[in-house]
Amino acid sequence: MHDPVIDLRSDTVTRPTPAMRAAIQAAEVGDDVFGEDSTVNQLQEKVAALLGKEAALFVPSGTMSNQICVKAHTQPGDEMLCEASCHIYVNEAGAPAALSGVTCRTIEGDYGILDVSQLEDKIRPDNDHQVRTRLVALENTHNRGGGRVYPLEKIADINSWARRHGLIMHLDGARLWNAMVATGIPASEWARHFDSVSVCFSKGLGAPIGSALAGSREFVTRGKRIRKMLGGGMRQAGMAAAGALFALEHHVDRLADDHQHAQIIAQAVADTPGLLLDPPDVETNLVFFEVDPDLGSSKEVAATLKKHGLLVQLPGPQTVRACTHLDISKVQAERAAEIIRHALRHVVPAQ
Ligand SMILES: Cc1ncc(COP(=O)(O)O)c(C=O)c1O
Repeated sequence: MHDPVIDLRSDTVTRPTPAMRAAIQAAEVGDDVFGEDSTVNQLQEKVAALLGKEAALFVPSGTMSNQICVKAHTQPGDEMLCEASCHIYVNEAGAPAALSGVTCRTIEGDYGILDVSQLEDKIRPDNDHQVRTRLVALENTHNRGGGRVYPLEKIADINSWARRHGLIMHLDGARLWNAMVATGIPASEWARHFDSVSVCFSKGLGAPIGSALAGSREFVTRGKRIRKMLGGGMRQAGMAAAGALFALEHHVDRLADDHQHAQIIAQAVADTPGLLLDPPDVETNLVFFEVDPDLGSSKEVAATLKKHGLLVQLPGPQTVRACTHLDISKVQAERAAEIIRHALRHVVPAQ
């Protein structure tokens, strides 16, 4: 049963379907810290194969996955190049600094997308006074960039440049599955440009818990030790891995529905005076829009939408995010669009 409320705050709010719950219930489990959970092992093998990497590691969250990778690739005093609004830098509680002693050099992208020309002068000279430029982290799709798909040729260019300069490449692929479905480009084709890739099962794929990192066997062995250090070694983790496996088998292709539903909502935003789609073109399941101050603040808009049974997220004082996902049907997307079109005529203007 769905709540009558249409919750577009995030693709993390999904609840496991009855079929996924059945798969979780039937999961074979063991102690994964001993490497004895066959469901976790099966998931890790599947993820490694999908990403074309030697090995993968199941972890509790996307944040832990990214931060294990940052730590495994760096030494304290190293620097990471990343886009200014990326999740690893903005939304992971300062973890590169706090956990790895890594500074972040941020570069403003075009809705999260960097061009290699913006990176070319960012490598610090080899000099005792300077931090050591070590790692490049990209995000695909880019959350704060409005769900933008990273053009593959831009990634390839950044990777060739990084290789020439001995830099390591990491991908935050929390929504790589969305990029894959939006373009038809397989996950391994994206992943081959990176030393490490993090993917999430608990977002668009609708699993209750879990992410994975992938890379060389040696890298994953180092990552496993860091996972233990961070308290992420789980015991009968197959209960969670079974949901992730089920999601990989049944919920990838249907992301195309989420993308279509996002278009329905984007059209309503485009049709509503005082709202501006930003970015103007919606590529995947995230719809960001700016609220004209004459209409009110994003908080006022969200409060009005909530009164009509529609929940959204507020990434900024004038910015609203709506996110489609597994628990939103086409009918609900159409209803959300109707609410946006009609309810926002009655927003209380800012004082
Ligand atoms: C792009 C991106 N990376 C990483 C994460 C972190 O995932 P988690 O919430 O599982 O820590 C998120 C979460 O929304 C995300 O959007």
